[in-house]
Amino acid sequence: MGFKMGIAGCGGFGNCFVPLYKAHPLVDEVVIADLVPERVESFSKKYGVERTCDSLDELLKTNVDAVAIITQRQLHGPMVIQALKAGKHVYSAVPMAIDIDDVKEIIRLVKETGLIYMVGETSYYYPETILCRKLFKEGKFGEFVYGEAQYLHDMSEFYQPYMQSGGPNWKRIAGFPPMFYPTHSVSMMLGVTGAHVTQVSCMGYRDHHEDGIFGEDLNDFQNPFSNETALMRTSDGGCCRINEFRRVPTFHETGTRSSVFMSMMGTKGGFENAPLNAYWIEKATKELIDISDQITLGKCAHPSEIGEVTEEYMKTDFFSGVAPVHPIGRLPKNFANMSNGHLGSHQFMVDDFCKAVTTGKLPPLHAWAAAAHCIPGLVAHASAVKGGELMDVPYMGEPPADWPMLNPDD
Ligand SMILES: NC(=O)c1ccc[n+]([C@@H]2O[C@H](COP(=O)([O-])OP(=O)(O)OC[C@H]3O[C@@H](n4cnc5c(N)ncnc54)[C@H](O)[C@@H]3O)[C@@H](O)[C@H]2O)c1
Repeated sequence: MGFKMGIAGCGGFGNCFVPLYKAHPLVDEVVIADLVPERVESFSKKYGVERTCDSLDELLKTNVDAVAIITQRQLHGPMVIQALKAGKHVYSAVPMAIDIDDVKEIIRLVKETGLIYMVGETSYYYPETILCRKLFKEGKFGEFVYGEAQYLHDMSEFYQPYMQSGGPNWKRIAGFPPMFYPTHSVSMMLGVTGAHVTQVSCMGYRDHHEDGIFGEDLNDFQNPFSNETALMRTSDGGCCRINEFRRVPTFHETGTRSSVFMSMMGTKGGFENAPLNAYWIEKATKELIDISDQITLGKCAHPSEIGEVTEEYMKTDFFSGVAPVHPIGRLPKNFANMSNGHLGSHQFMVDDFCKAVTTGKLPPLHAWAAAAHCIPGLVAHASAVKGGELMDVPYMGEPPADWPMLNPDD
């Protein structure tokens, strides 16, 4: 019944997932891999992992049934393709890929092999997304009209993570186009409505900062923009404004809200969310109802439970508690006192993947959903380069109708 899980990437984010996969009752063994031997050794000691490998290539030669790709953001697409071709189920950190051809190939392989692919987009399980998904399903919003979602994260907070694995040329990767990492915001919209994006127009903010990260000649992506704003037309007739900003004031407060938040308007009801508050607007009664308590996170699990974590930002983002709206009843009992970072989302993603692998059902963030949430950003950046040109967004369709899917909310 159980399966063997490989994890490639023993960096900052890997810290959150090795203990959770190890603790999940459906996982028989966890095998870890990293190119940096000290990281493998440190993880092996910290989390009690016996089998280790020195690369993803080596990991794929072992008898693991599935792998998690938690490597740097620009590497995922080709690594996922390699893992699917090796016959492994795949969990991937965001983004799915930075090239639409890689997205297409992942979908082709999943269709051909029947293997599970899941993208680990944390905002899909943020409290406001779960709450709005529920209200939307109940018809409380009516038809989707308009939404706003944003991921605001200043580059100064990324220096250390990029330096950690980027070596002396870390700035070449740090200049990653913001819209190549679009899902913290886009998934909040599409993760509620289930629609897809049909067209996009995007504007970029040309960066002037002296750190020399954003600029046509300064990075591997010829990207001059540190902030990008897109207007996206959705297949249900609505539209949304998406901000992916990397040069702005960033708001963080341990255990409460983050700098990822959204608002959404329907024909019947609306949800207004700012970093610390949330309101429901009921058209019929003209009421403004404060629903902040539904999405406010409880006490954080303490980082010491899973070992020493040195960076302060990790304590904020990587070890959040849960909100009342989180359906924690569906989680394994032994997750109860473990870390659950990014607004309570990590445990749900790990649980989805483990159940998908063992039941053969699609996880909610399957390949087609992952594509729908990722591709609009890739096209948005192309639009920004062309001064905001309105562009069509390729649609990869839906999964086969006879492939059953897990329910994310119970
Ligand atoms: N909220 C979120 O969803 C969220 C938050 C943080 C990070 N992330 C994502 O998680 C990923 C990892 O982030 P991080 O901060 O841990 O990065 P990191 O640089 O700290 O860790 C990545 C690790 O992957 C290893 N690696 C690279 N190539 C490899 C290979 N071929 N085989 C084995 N190991 C290899 C590197 O050596 C490194 O240790 C990124 O894609 C990032 O975007 C997502």
